[in-house]
Amino acid sequence: MCGIVGYLGNKNTKEILLSGLKELEYRGYDSAGIAVLQDGEFSNYKAVGKLVNLEEKTKNFITDKFAIGIGHTRWATHGKPTELNAHPHLGESSYVVHNGIIENYAELKQELQKDGIKFLSQTDTEVIVHQFEKNLLASGDEFEAFSKTISELEGAYATLIVTKSLPDTIFFAKHGSPMLVGVNDENEKFFASSDSPLIGLAKEVNYFEDGDYGYVTKGELVIFDKDGNKSKPNFSQLSTDKLSAQKDGYRFFMEKEIYEQSDVIADTLLGRLSDEEIMFDEIDKNLFNGINEIKLCACGTSYHSALSASYLFERYSKIRCSVEIASEFRYRSPIMSKDTLFVVISQSGETADTLETLKMAKKAGLRTLVICNVDNSSMVRLADACILTRAGIEKGVASTKAFATQVTVFWMLSLYVAKLRNSLSRDELKHQIHLLREIPVATIVSDDMHERIKRLSKRYLHGHGFFFIGRDIFFPLALEGALKLKEISYLHAEGYPSGEMKHGPIALADPELFTIALLPEHLLYEKSKSNVEELSARDSTICAISSKEFDKADDFIKINSSKDYMLEFFEMMIAVQLLSLEISIRLGNDVDMPRNLAKSVTVE
Ligand code: M6R
Repeated sequence: MCGIVGYLGNKNTKEILLSGLKELEYRGYDSAGIAVLQDGEFSNYKAVGKLVNLEEKTKNFITDKFAIGIGHTRWATHGKPTELNAHPHLGESSYVVHNGIIENYAELKQELQKDGIKFLSQTDTEVIVHQFEKNLLASGDEFEAFSKTISELEGAYATLIVTKSLPDTIFFAKHGSPMLVGVNDENEKFFASSDSPLIGLAKEVNYFEDGDYGYVTKGELVIFDKDGNKSKPNFSQLSTDKLSAQKDGYRFFMEKEIYEQSDVIADTLLGRLSDEEIMFDEIDKNLFNGINEIKLCACGTSYHSALSASYLFERYSKIRCSVEIASEFRYRSPIMSKDTLFVVISQSGETADTLETLKMAKKAGLRTLVICNVDNSSMVRLADACILTRAGIEKGVASTKAFATQVTVFWMLSLYVAKLRNSLSRDELKHQIHLLREIPVATIVSDDMHERIKRLSKRYLHGHGFFFIGRDIFFPLALEGALKLKEISYLHAEGYPSGEMKHGPIALADPELFTIALLPEHLLYEKSKSNVEELSARDSTICAISSKEFDKADDFIKINSSKDYMLEFFEMMIAVQLLSLEISIRLGNDVDMPRNLAKSVTVE
């Protein structure tokens, strides 16, 4: 997601800002910009696409004396990735950068427009700088104007403002989006969204709390807390290891990415929900005209999200849906009929097998859609339409947040199609949208659950195999749980439909066979329970994941009681991810780079 940097000092401001933005690239972005105030004059540069484009534009721009500067990598939410929408945003004589969402921007914008203010961009951010200048005009005092502006904003933000009348001051505020400030003995000040840009530059750093705001000059760092009381900076030493800094204190990227899921799902939902309908501005409704079947095609984890989607499409959209493993599909002379929408799913957008099936579908004249996490990837460029999952860069080879956002997109898409096909009542649609809004809360990792899984993981380091079992949409989740465990623990694991165990695999049951049973309260609970009881009666070791206590289980991972099976799905997803993580850590494996695996499989 977006990244912020800021600098005040005598060194090469342009280089410090650009290399800071480079460090934040991993957050994902589609445009970038900087604004520097030097010798009383502002210079501003913006570019769409990668940072090299901004570097190219600034190559003749020299910063060799005291200056203040702010920079930003933007990941588009309000408005397309264009130069006009890129930050920093200009008022009359001030610039702003911002991460997060200003929820009341429409009201503020309306008021400002009534005052004759012209807006150049479609962003929510631009209101901040105009509101600041309006307040400055009224009070004549920059800090008063800034404090008032902050008090008028609703939503989540980390923001920096610089203004011409105070050429040695940067104003800052943080509420809900991360930001820190660094200082050193040379009176330089550095801002960033995470600490990696500050490594090697700042001596110590202060991580802002929600509600903090204030300003820096050469000699000062002034912080006020959320109640408006002056507070002392709480300095800490900066790590000297960039990689560990990027992990934000987590042991592995995979762990960080599991914890990020709540936030990235909120991003996935952003701007796509109204009370009565799902909005995908990026696709044309005609894409579904005359379509009688949806065919989903993918590999690995993306294949599991596709399988999950098939339950949702048939249940909610009442449309036939089939799912294909890409490496199989491409060699089996499949029948491709023109009333089929061909959907490929891929985190990377580069997986060779999936890409090939997309080419086949295009060649056969089918309409195509890609659900992808990487903009401008090969699949995104090739497909007729694209929905981005907005998970941000996923570094762990074992996919977690990509899966979570794919399933979120599919849940939304099944409702979008349901509305087009009139297959759900208005009330049911509203209810489903209400549930969608609850996923970010359902996916917050609870300390209790993580601790419990950490403790019980020690009992699952051996044995002759794991069966992850579930019914309905919990079957693909079982497959995904088993894949996660295989990938990073190197233990043998299978995902199986609960009701199918008695047709063969139950022969394996003994105390050394570990069954991870997904028991959702709101979907086929009694049926799934009976299947687990059959295994328990044959002495298999059972670890049940459910909101309902289950006395036949040897181990129990409790999830919260929720209103709907899909919310249980997301909570159980976190549980199986954490279980694999903790087992792998105990076994001493490299969680982020498991043996024999690559993040993006661009070969057959
Ligand atoms: O980038 P893609 O989603 O197309 O990748 C597909 C698989 O290679 C990928 O999901 C793989 O199975 C992961 N390692 C799963 O954790």
